[in-house]
Amino acid sequence: MSCIILPPDADSLRRAADALKQGKLVALPTETVYGLGANALDDMAVAGIYAAKSRPSFNPLIVHVANRHQAEHYADFTPLAEVLADAFWPGPMTLVLKRKGDCPLSHLVSAGLDTVALRVPAHPTTQALLNASKLPIAAPSANRSGRISPTLAEHVAQEFEKDDLLVLDGGACSEGLESTVVDATGKSPVLLRPGSITPDEMTAACGQETLRAATHSDTPQSPGMLLKHYAPSIPLRMNATSREPDEALLAFGACPYHGGTILNLSESGNLKEACANLFAYLRKLDKAEHKAIAVMPIPETGLGLAINDRLRRAEKR
Ligand code: TXA
Ligand code: MG
Repeated sequence: MSCIILPPDADSLRRAADALKQGKLVALPTETVYGLGANALDDMAVAGIYAAKSRPSFNPLIVHVANRHQAEHYADFTPLAEVLADAFWPGPMTLVLKRKGDCPLSHLVSAGLDTVALRVPAHPTTQALLNASKLPIAAPSANRSGRISPTLAEHVAQEFEKDDLLVLDGGACSEGLESTVVDATGKSPVLLRPGSITPDEMTAACGQETLRAATHSDTPQSPGMLLKHYAPSIPLRMNATSREPDEALLAFGACPYHGGTILNLSESGNLKEACANLFAYLRKLDKAEHKAIAVMPIPETGLGLAINDRLRRAEKR
């Protein structure tokens, strides 16, 4: 298992597209920074991104698509989103939009939210990969959690030296700064993360004032972004070692309970599989007929840290 840098030729593109289809990770160049990509339709592949980055919590991920037409398969475009997409796509602009009711993207890319962040990158190599694979590609910056975003293929290879990873070499990223992230679900753009497209440029394009996330919501914000979390509508109880009547059960590993509603995140106790199922299962159990969701203990190691972080937020609500 090792990390391989590939030149951006037709052979490499085929290899990278095949790897994505098999659920593997591919690092790809964009005009902003290199991304750590996976098939956004495949829960296990997306879980692989979190595992490789060792993120201690789930941040929703940006889904990269070849063009606006593809983006419209996955999200509801507001008039504002249409204007911003026309003005800035392809390019370093990420639009947060409502997922379509039948959106086939993994719920893990949205970290359980009912929105999805979409971007059409301009870099020709990644455009070619999107077209060759015909897949939407989920990709955060290709660095381990807490490290600096990579702007050269070599940076990615240093970071993921021992991982089974193909890195498409697209040279140095021209922007070197992550994309501007904008909530475009309303009438005015709301800046969630500053990037190389400025609020003034957005305002000029759409004729609406660009709002800051911090003034948009009265809840405390993580730096520069609006981090809402999906919370179930019924109470959630972690580390459950017993089960009350009327509770739905989110099981993990060997399950001693029978009857009622039970979904098992991973019968074999595999944390990556648990991560892949987490948000979809929480949604399925979040039904008024249950008094609460009891969750069996999940180990505080590896991906278990991110899963428990997420569950703790859902428990607090
Ligand atoms: O330039 C970039 O944006 C790079 C390249 C690879 O495209 N990607 C990148 O991804 O920086 P990442 O995962 O490091 O940052 C994604 C940002 C985070 O701040 C995340 O919170 C926000 O986008 N985001 C993604 N989905 C969101 C959603 N549904 N609602 C709100 N914010 C979202
Ligand atoms: Mg990042």
